[in-house]
Amino acid sequence: MAKFKIAIVVGSNRRESLNRKLAHALGKLGADKFDVTFPRIDDLPLFNQDHENDLPASVARFKADVNAADGVLIVTPEHNRSIPAALKNAIDWGARPYGTSVWGGKAIAITGTSPGAIGTAVAQQHLRTILGAFLGALVMGGEAYVTFKPDLIDANGNIADAGTRTFLQGFLDQFATLLGRLAPAQRAAA
Ligand code: FNR
Repeated sequence: MAKFKIAIVVGSNRRESLNRKLAHALGKLGADKFDVTFPRIDDLPLFNQDHENDLPASVARFKADVNAADGVLIVTPEHNRSIPAALKNAIDWGARPYGTSVWGGKAIAITGTSPGAIGTAVAQQHLRTILGAFLGALVMGGEAYVTFKPDLIDANGNIADAGTRTFLQGFLDQFATLLGRLAPAQRAAA
């Protein structure tokens, strides 16, 4: 069976990002079902509506990356109990100008990791509100809050903890099932 194309967007612009490590581990874990790309958000300029009708090249590239994907997996940190500014910036560019949003009808799965006990739960809830309730994305249900421990990911970039790996495999399988229901329709409409 053909694999689904998913864009994995990391909500951090930090070089040693824990979320980027998790994102790459998820890409490996889901390799039998997904062809993955990792659209950059760290080089997007700060959103400015003055430029939304003449998009900077990096923004046009980001929007094309998202448009090309059957679905988007967002792996985000939590900053001050919300989403990082870098991720909000990327979402805002992706939504503009009016009528050209990349988010409407897009299948999206959300996870994220933090050393904190609640593993980005509040940020993920905010993201659901932005993408699902307002921008009209099809945000997958369920919860995947990952508390980061030093031994979560091994030296080869795989999820080392068996329980977490099984849980996240189920999360990715659920996303593949959702895409299987939606992607043919999206392709037909394209
Ligand atoms: C944080 N951190 C954090 N952690 C958390 O669980 N909840 C929070 O609200 C915050 N707030 C917060 C604000 C700011 C400005 C920073 C820099 C950090 C800690 C955060 O989880 C930690 O820095 C992670 O390593 C960030 O993820 P990346 O960038 O490593 O993927």
